[in-house]
Amino acid sequence: QSVKKGKYSHYMEKEIYEQPRSIKNTLKHYLQKNNTIYFPELKKNNIFYHAEHIQIVACGTSYNAAMVSRYWFEALANTPCDVEIASEFSSRKLAVKRKSFLITLSQSGETADTLSALRHSKKLGYLGNLTICNMEGSSLVKESDFCILTHAGIEIGVASTKSFTAQLTVLLMLVSKIANFKKNYLVSKNIIQVLNTLPDKIEEILKKNELIKTIANKLSNKKNILFLGRGEQYPIAIEGALKLKEISYIHAEAYPAGELKHGPLALIDKNMTVIIVAPNNALLEKIKNNIKEICSREGIIYVFSDQDFDYEENINIIKLPYIEELIAPICYIIPLQLLAYYIALSKGKDIDQPRHLAKSVTVE
Ligand code: G6P
Repeated sequence: QSVKKGKYSHYMEKEIYEQPRSIKNTLKHYLQKNNTIYFPELKKNNIFYHAEHIQIVACGTSYNAAMVSRYWFEALANTPCDVEIASEFSSRKLAVKRKSFLITLSQSGETADTLSALRHSKKLGYLGNLTICNMEGSSLVKESDFCILTHAGIEIGVASTKSFTAQLTVLLMLVSKIANFKKNYLVSKNIIQVLNTLPDKIEEILKKNELIKTIANKLSNKKNILFLGRGEQYPIAIEGALKLKEISYIHAEAYPAGELKHGPLALIDKNMTVIIVAPNNALLEKIKNNIKEICSREGIIYVFSDQDFDYEENINIIKLPYIEELIAPICYIIPLQLLAYYIALSKGKDIDQPRHLAKSVTVE
């Protein structure tokens, strides 16, 4: 590979620390001087803006980014959105919603399942299709009606990091464009304003690395770890668990915190570690109830929250800086990426080339 690791031990480490820069680069491509967004392939009045429903298909980490964006499309742009794993999408008889537009999300643009979902969708009467992709000239880019590149730069580590946050950045810009098209100018402008603060916020969060390294050393001998989140932090919990599985081979599972009582609570005892993503938002009180349920069963808790978080019992709290709610999912994945990386490092695993996995899976 022509890309060098520089001062870093692994590509994944380099790619995690590169995120303030890769996001800045993504923003630079589409944010204009007058603080409006311009997507060259989605000009004013493009058919995309007339969609009444958005269907996203993707795999792996890209699927998790899509899951986060579903909350944004619906809450901020009032656009119904569904997300499906590409291989499932292609293999079932589905009923296409009225005026639905298909989005594929992919780092490589070569994932066979996603490509085959796109081809399948063309027979189904979608308004059109758009790919959000990191690789110019890839098959997905070539075969899609429209394309937005994520501009995260080449990603080499098999476990995807900077392309995830670049995807989320593009998706949030897309939501801002739809809000603007629907004349919800305030939401649209607010997104842009907050996105501008994102690279510095991530820089600040990366400074928590020493603390996270210490926690990683304590967790590296665990056999199972449970991840919990609510709302748009639920897919962040899934992505955190995926990162850990991929590179440390620790069994990790993610649940929406509200589901705890419907099953996973049975797993909690003094040996179970639970990682909770809990920024200070309207769902915090509910999360605190979940924490109580885990504490009373002696589970070991690590909560990622912000400065104002307090809790009377003895749990581990990792305090992040104050973060605007709009960009909180993009920020809260950073400590989970670091955690997975440092756990795998302390276990001596092959971080950039985990066993059985490939960067781009070109078979179905
Ligand atoms: C593989 C990689 C994952 C990636 C997934 C989807 O499984 O190991 O890191 O998230 O493919 O890849 P894509 O290139 O479509 O985003």
